[in-house]
Amino acid sequence: MTTHDAPPTNDARTSSSGGPDTPADAVAAGNTGAPLDPRQEEQSILYVGMDLGTSRTAVAASNGTREDTFSTIGYPKDVVSRKLLGDGPLFGAEAMAKRLSLSMYRPLEKGVIKAGGEDDDGNAKAARDLVQHAIRLAKPRPDQLVYAVIGTPAEASIKNRKAILDAAKEVVDSVIIASEPFAVAYGLDILTDALVIDIGAGTVDLCRMHGTMPEPEDQITLSHAGDAVDKVLADLIRKNHPELQFSERMVSAAKEQYATVRKSDGNIVVTWPVNGKPTEVDITAEMHEACHSIVPPIADALGKLVASFDPEFQSVLRGNVLLGGGGSRIRGLGDALAAYMTEHLGGGNVTTVEEPVYAGANGALKIGRDMPAEYWEQLA
Ligand SMILES: Nc1ncnc2c1ncn2[C@@H]1O[C@H](COP(=O)(O)OP(=O)(O)OP(=O)(O)O)[C@@H](O)[C@H]1O
Ligand SMILES: [Mg+2]
Repeated sequence: MTTHDAPPTNDARTSSSGGPDTPADAVAAGNTGAPLDPRQEEQSILYVGMDLGTSRTAVAASNGTREDTFSTIGYPKDVVSRKLLGDGPLFGAEAMAKRLSLSMYRPLEKGVIKAGGEDDDGNAKAARDLVQHAIRLAKPRPDQLVYAVIGTPAEASIKNRKAILDAAKEVVDSVIIASEPFAVAYGLDILTDALVIDIGAGTVDLCRMHGTMPEPEDQITLSHAGDAVDKVLADLIRKNHPELQFSERMVSAAKEQYATVRKSDGNIVVTWPVNGKPTEVDITAEMHEACHSIVPPIADALGKLVASFDPEFQSVLRGNVLLGGGGSRIRGLGDALAAYMTEHLGGGNVTTVEEPVYAGANGALKIGRDMPAEYWEQLA
């Protein structure tokens, strides 16, 4: 398996002058505004790349900070929990640990801020609090402006863009919204001849890179992602072992520990209660089937992006497929995708990024440092 390291963000500024056919240069070609003096800009502006994810939010900032948190927020439920925990909110792992005393929110679903459901106001507030928390994690100085590039699913709607801007406006001065797989590719300096796939919790985002800013037809968003794998796994286990007692959280923890599509990885055994008694149960077959369920939709979407591309370059694209996001950690996934592509698309070569947690945030930061002034949307 080949891997790519995310480049250090310190040289991000110099990389924008790399080649004439980079997306940054394609964009900068239309730039009529005078660029800021880099040093002056550095002191007064904190650039933040944010991967605002369904399950986890990561930030990478121009002051060198790298932080991530689960995208989960808890508000104390009543007077007793406030006495115990303070006014809150609590975030990430801490919120999850104290969840019995908290009203819990996971404000993103399928990669976008939840809307049109039961508790829109609660989710909008939780999204705002999550973005504020993520910006705090980036440690801006009080005198600094915050310029944030926020990653969203490839096919983000105008409504979702607006929801993100609303969530960000109290703590961010200027913003660019970028597609997640594009941010991953940009961070790795892979700007052409590649297909990038970001496998998250809520969405799988595919993006075709061909030396310019990707257009809508270069991108596909699928909703069968990590959360959906958890659901398939839970349903299979429930069907095959009706006596087992387990929660959604136990299923995702088991997946994150054992996820594989390789038969050679050995048996997967969990110890979960049956009638209150811890009992060993083999869930190997269920794990393989659940993890494999994401292969055909991804391969089909890949096929579409390849088939609709210039015929002379199709094999180059097929041969350079890059996997990122937490879901890319399913063992053997790259090989399974390559095998499926060989069978159905006449060949394929798949590699996995080395640092899936920060690949999106690193790329978003790099976009922020490279983009000229007129690409920023002023919020404050
Ligand atoms: N070791 C692992 N094996 C398999 N899956 C994993 C592993 N670690 C994390 N995941 C899964 O990866 C997903 C989270 O990935 P990531 O953090 O990239 O998503 P996200 O950015 O929060 O979601 P989205 O991009 O859809 O908004 C979850 O479904 C999680 O269960
Ligand atoms: Mg993501």
